[in-house]
Amino acid sequence: MQITSFKQYEEDYKKSIENPEQFWGEVAQNFQWRKPWFKVLSWNFNEPQIKWFEGAKLNITENCLDRHLEKNGDKPAIIWEPNNPEEESVTLTYKMLHERVCRFANVLKRNGAKKGDRICIYMPMVPELAIAVLACARIGAVHSVIFGGFSAKSIADRINDSQCKLVITADGAYRGNKQIPLKDVIDDALIGCPTVEKCIVLTHVRTPVSMLKGRDVWWEDEVKHVNDVCEAEEMDAEDMLFILYTSGSTGKPKGVVHTCGGYMVYAGYTFSNVFNYQPDEVYFCTADIGWITGHSYIVYGPLSQGATSVLFEGIPTYPSPSRFWDIVEKHKINTLYTAPTAIRSLMSFGEDPLQGKDLSSIRVLGSVGEPINEEAWHWFDEKIGHSKAPIVDTWWQTETGGIMISPIATVTPTKPGYATLPLPGIQPILVDENGNEIAGNSVSGNLCIKFPWPGMLRTTYGDHERCKQTYFSTYENLYFTGDGCLRDEDGYYRITGRVDDVLNVSGHRIGTAEVENAINMHAGVVESAVVGYPHDVKGQGIYAFVIYPEMHGEAELSKKDILQTVTRVIGAIAKPDKILFVTGLPKTRSGKIMRRILRKISDGDTANLGDTSTLLDPGVVEEIIEAAKSL
Ligand code: WTA
Repeated sequence: MQITSFKQYEEDYKKSIENPEQFWGEVAQNFQWRKPWFKVLSWNFNEPQIKWFEGAKLNITENCLDRHLEKNGDKPAIIWEPNNPEEESVTLTYKMLHERVCRFANVLKRNGAKKGDRICIYMPMVPELAIAVLACARIGAVHSVIFGGFSAKSIADRINDSQCKLVITADGAYRGNKQIPLKDVIDDALIGCPTVEKCIVLTHVRTPVSMLKGRDVWWEDEVKHVNDVCEAEEMDAEDMLFILYTSGSTGKPKGVVHTCGGYMVYAGYTFSNVFNYQPDEVYFCTADIGWITGHSYIVYGPLSQGATSVLFEGIPTYPSPSRFWDIVEKHKINTLYTAPTAIRSLMSFGEDPLQGKDLSSIRVLGSVGEPINEEAWHWFDEKIGHSKAPIVDTWWQTETGGIMISPIATVTPTKPGYATLPLPGIQPILVDENGNEIAGNSVSGNLCIKFPWPGMLRTTYGDHERCKQTYFSTYENLYFTGDGCLRDEDGYYRITGRVDDVLNVSGHRIGTAEVENAINMHAGVVESAVVGYPHDVKGQGIYAFVIYPEMHGEAELSKKDILQTVTRVIGAIAKPDKILFVTGLPKTRSGKIMRRILRKISDGDTANLGDTSTLLDPGVVEEIIEAAKSL
């Protein structure tokens, strides 16, 4: 199923468009099913209602584990690299991983988990995180992994939205030289989570934690009470596999739902092809399993293909900005898949951290999460890939389940800043504001997808209408991505960024409305407006305009208070980089905030603000521009 030439890509692409069902039916043959499907695809984008591999039965963990045991049981499945380089790394072979997943699956059962139950996972990047994820899938429970940077309130909102019965966490996490008290955060969250019956706690940093009798149990104790035999639950292709919360333009994150069969096929197929994975290679994706990239391209994609996947607990700059390169050398990494923000951050340290590092094992490089600027692309290409490793700039989303537009390593000619061409099965289309197709090349517009693919979201948990409104109602019969896009003279796609009110800060998706809601919760704040502005390392920074009339004491202290409130409400990842106190916001007569103007001000581009005549009070703009000069 691997594409090895551009000609083959073109042929496969053509076939996938002319006869999608046959194409995906054939791809799906490369996976292990307990029972075959009777229909490859039925769909409509109006309701929306999408079913792939209807009638088929499977368990994704049999594809990620059991089927590799016979031939590749002793092959490393996961290599864990700890935060502290002095600590030993850990290798789990497919056999070992299988055994641990089965054992922990029995722990979940012992603690009352059943098929269909939702389980929240809030853990550091340790092998047990992958084990917990796979153990849920083993018994047919639905995992909802929450990134370690979210606050207690965010966790509680997510747990309650999907009514989780169980939580899996650890005492704490290491992140560079910091320790994060995960269990404390969970304790705060669980005060408001009546559906949670049990909390399983892994010992990791061994910091003191409170353990509530009847609710909290230690991972290490529990695994002693069970054996490592656990038959995989038979799942329908369209049964839910996981929920992953993501930000949108409204204030409330939504639970994107992925199902077992289609997601597996799509994650596995795209992994194998985009990275051109070869059997004995070591693959390293630097994402966190708390995000979709970690789900699809640390856990499910690589393991379904029998690959060796490196799981790194730490951060790129600890203990020094050489860390990634040390890891590449130590584990002889063949594929390095990372984010533009990490590349830009490492680039800023110059070439010293690269001195004496052996990067010769690198064969393929990948980028994900945000547009990659040309400077970072070239640095990555020259300094890391030594101009020999193709860079796959992979465009996709939590909602798409897997990579959608991307070069195929060694096959597609790349171009800096371009995600290049759609993968087989993917039918992108650019539309104007009214939903009319913009055909031809050298054009730009809003990016939509006009035909289903197996990895697409099926619904948003507990609120199907929201799924319809957000993705399928803007333009009739199209999935709307929320991204702007350019198609150049060669038909290559370049993603230009979000066209909705969603920010991309260090590759993390954050809705402006969410940040505004958090700021507005701060006592004394009357109103706020948040926009993104260009940031050298983060891609986008968060700029908040805040009306706070009766502030006492120093403004700087009030800013810190606001940051603290945002940290409490959402988490540190959503903290504004800049806060400007203003007396009013530019609004239209109907009361709508004109963000376009605020974006220009935050960008320092005040010479041409465009038409301000529709503003209720045009004077406020001058005032804000003056105030902004002080930041
Ligand atoms: C952005 C991450 C440009 C885009 C997998 C998308 C990108 C959002 C790229 C999804 C890329 C992702 N080039 N922009 N290669 N990859 N994006 O859900 O705006 O965390 O809509 O999924 O990231 O972010 P999410």
